[in-house]
Amino acid sequence: MTAARPAAAPARNVSDLPTIPLGSPLLLLGRGADADAERGVICAGDLPAPDDPTLVDRARRAKEILGDRVMILGHHYQRNQVIEFADARGDSFELSRQASIAEAPYIVFCGVHFMAESASILGREDQTVILPDLAAGCSMADMAEGHQVVDAWARLERAGVAAQTIPLTYMNSTAAIKSFCGERGGAICTSSNAAAAMRWAFDQAPGGWAPGGDPDGGKILFLPDQHLGRNTAVLGLGLELDDCVVYDPWQPDGGLTDRQIRDARVILWKGHCSVHARFQPAMIDKIRAERPEVEVLVHPECRHEVVLQADRVGSTGQIIRWVEEAPAGATIAIATELNLVKRLGQEHPDKEIVFLDDTVCFCATMNRIDLPHLVWVLEALIEGEVVNEVKVDADTRRWARVALERMLALPGDDRSLVAAHASA
Ligand code: 13P
Ligand code: SF4
Repeated sequence: MTAARPAAAPARNVSDLPTIPLGSPLLLLGRGADADAERGVICAGDLPAPDDPTLVDRARRAKEILGDRVMILGHHYQRNQVIEFADARGDSFELSRQASIAEAPYIVFCGVHFMAESASILGREDQTVILPDLAAGCSMADMAEGHQVVDAWARLERAGVAAQTIPLTYMNSTAAIKSFCGERGGAICTSSNAAAAMRWAFDQAPGGWAPGGDPDGGKILFLPDQHLGRNTAVLGLGLELDDCVVYDPWQPDGGLTDRQIRDARVILWKGHCSVHARFQPAMIDKIRAERPEVEVLVHPECRHEVVLQADRVGSTGQIIRWVEEAPAGATIAIATELNLVKRLGQEHPDKEIVFLDDTVCFCATMNRIDLPHLVWVLEALIEGEVVNEVKVDADTRRWARVALERMLALPGDDRSLVAAHASA
């Protein structure tokens, strides 16, 4: 017998529906700026047409003319047409290191906005950082706004734990949040040094590393990627899943009771990467069923369930090294951004490189940087015009730089998070 269906609720007018409290006004990309977030940055100018057949020659010529005056940095997620012109390519950590030692007066950053900001913070005052398309933001960085982080800290103060908490932010965050962390004794991390950064943070925290869940022990507020934070805390440091709680900036009190905050060791921000969070454990099951010999490499921005099933977990730089080290004939499935995975396939024709799932797409904002934008900013420089400069103001820069320098001083760790867990 089928249960009677409940009577349908009476239809309501849209105006009767509860209003969703949106903390931030919506800004169209390219219209107006929001100093507190990565959204709404301006992109103006006459770009060369994408089908202009002279673009490659124009880029070569512009680089030749500019010579040592310009250094082009390219993140691994950039398109081939752009990465081809990079003087240095790398993951977030490597590119921030390159920016800190670059001699050239102009740094053209082919990546996203928070990376260009970090180059501006780490570079010399007289250097100019250019992002070829200012609308190349990061949806994860947008999930934490400066005022929300200030509110979260006030929440920790109300719960009585702020004094024993070190704020740690992933590189993928605004300069204002980096500065916030630096000023409160915290630091930055990238996906290649998150475990070292967390260990460092527990060492700094009053109360320190307190195994056994001592509520007076040190705590970390980890921004803005909950997945990197959770994966690192559990697999890199050996904490329990229950040691982590998720702070939701859109909920009253962050959606947490005082008790939950006091009992936690790591307070994770409710943010994620819209590209990496799409990978699912079922995709790993499927590829293993089809290709039992496959080795699965995933980025730590992936969900915990995905990371647990992987053979190795690491930053883009680490994934590239593992592919290089794999023997000819190896089958490798990779869960990270598609531009990089496709390029690895092209660069290693002797290995079978498989993208973990076809429904996961490029990082839309990384992809905004294309050859027309690159040619446009380089040719403008030849004309003596700086377009699309990213400059962090002196006040923000001061503490953000301290936080970034703390990160650069951390010991590197080339191990996979999964392998580190297994050998701990
Ligand atoms: P890494 O460069 O640290 O691997 O991070 C990946 C990423 O999402 C950059 O936006
Ligand atoms: Fe941001 Fe994810 Fe794109 Fe990286 S891949 S820039 S974290 S949206």
